[in-house]
Amino acid sequence: MVEISTSILSMKKGEENKTILALETSKTDYFHIDVMDGKFVQNNTYNKMLEYSSYIKRISNLPLDVHLMVEDVKHAIDDFLAVEPNIITFHLEACKTKEEVFEIIKYIKENNCKVGISIKPDTKIEDVYEFLPYIHMCLIMTVEPGKGGQSLILETLEKIKELKRYIEENKIEIDIEADGGINLATVEDVKKAGANILVAGTAILMAKDYKIIIDELKKE
Ligand code: DX5
Ligand code: ZN
Repeated sequence: MVEISTSILSMKKGEENKTILALETSKTDYFHIDVMDGKFVQNNTYNKMLEYSSYIKRISNLPLDVHLMVEDVKHAIDDFLAVEPNIITFHLEACKTKEEVFEIIKYIKENNCKVGISIKPDTKIEDVYEFLPYIHMCLIMTVEPGKGGQSLILETLEKIKELKRYIEENKIEIDIEADGGINLATVEDVKKAGANILVAGTAILMAKDYKIIIDELKKE
């Protein structure tokens, strides 16, 4: 059974409390926190996501799945560790050297948090292979990072298939999270490709009844 990580990026202002509690009763498995710094990607959601995260911590016990789309990864890790996330995922493309990648992995783990690496649609899947034995999750962007409501880029499904084959062949225990443009029309292909955690924002938040959509997305 796949798990659902609901992106709260497009949560309506003033309806945060209602939305978070409704998502909890609708059995989302995680809250997906899309942190954007206005440099790695154009949008800046940094402070809003910090605020939302600490708010969620106060009213819900569901785990936070933090997705850092930032240039200054270390600084963002320090800020978001404060809301005790379940996992912090950073972008491979934000690191200049492999030493830096390994250093960030170590730093997140030392702070008792799970670690994920995310790659953009144009980044080759092979680029992440050497880090897989040391992390808990690989986040495959199925849209260009930076905003919600985009259409899934079909070519990215090949990367998920490749990654699935590679981790099975090399017996690497790791979650594969797909993120972007996932809805009732695209979810079957994403699951078939091998993702076991699906991020959905628009598809869930625009629905009247979140539970119907979440149940549909989870359906075997
Ligand atoms: C995009 C974010 C995604 C996005 C998902 O940069 O990483 O998590 O918000 O939203 P939808 O499901 O609307 O594509
Ligand atoms: Zn995301």
